[in-house]
Amino acid sequence: MTITTCIFDAYGTLLDVNAAARLAAAEPGRERLAEVWPQLARDWRAKQLEYSWLRAIAAQHVDFWQVTQDGLDWAMEAAGLADDDLRARLLALYRELAAFPEVPAVLAALKARGLTCAILSNGSPGMLADAVRSAGIGGHLDDVLSVESVGVFKPDARVYAMVEARFGCARDEVLFVSSNGWDAGGAAGYGFCTAWVNRADAPVDRVWAQPSHVVPDLTRIPDLV
Ligand code: LAC
Repeated sequence: MTITTCIFDAYGTLLDVNAAARLAAAEPGRERLAEVWPQLARDWRAKQLEYSWLRAIAAQHVDFWQVTQDGLDWAMEAAGLADDDLRARLLALYRELAAFPEVPAVLAALKARGLTCAILSNGSPGMLADAVRSAGIGGHLDDVLSVESVGVFKPDARVYAMVEARFGCARDEVLFVSSNGWDAGGAAGYGFCTAWVNRADAPVDRVWAQPSHVVPDLTRIPDLV
C-alpha cells in the first residue's frame, strides 16, 4: 500500500527533550546543575513516561503538562536540587524545545511529495502549540493531534485511531515515525507502517510488535515513502 500520511511523535522525535536541562546547565550560576544535568534529563524523561503509562493503566488521566511537572519534581529531588527558580526555568525551556536540525528539511521534502504530515503526541494542546511555534515547523504540518482529544496516553489504540478519524486514511497508508521504541512498537501493533528513529543506538524494545524500519535520525524518512 502506498504511504499517503506521515505521522510524527513530538517529544524526542522532532523535539530535543534534553535541550531544557542542557541549556539551563549552561546558564550562569547553575554550577550544581552543570554537574548532574545528563542524569536529571534521563530521570525527568523516564519518570514523565512512566507516569503517563501508570495513569493510562489506572484510568487516572491528567494532561502531559502535569506528568511533565511530576517527572521533573521526582528527578530534581533525586538529584538533590531543591530550587523553585530552577524548576520554573526548566519548565519554561521545555515549552520552547528546539527541533532536531534535520526536521524542517525533512518535513519540507515530505510536503513537496504531496504527503499529509502531522504530529500525534501525548503533549497537551498548549504544550504542542508552544513547541511548534518555537521550532518554526507549523508551516509544514497539516495538523497537530493531541491525546487530550481521547483522554488517554499512548500506546492506547484510541490514540492511534485518531489518525484514521482525522485524515480518512487506511492504517497501512500511514508511516508513523517515533524515536520512542515502545511508541513505534505500539503503532506497529496497531497496524501502521512504522519507523523507529533510534537516535541513541539502543536495543529494540521487546514489546508486542516491531517497527518496519529502523533509522538513526529523520534524514532517511523521505526515502521510505
Ligand atoms: C509524545 C511523547 C511520547 O510526543 O514523546 O507523544
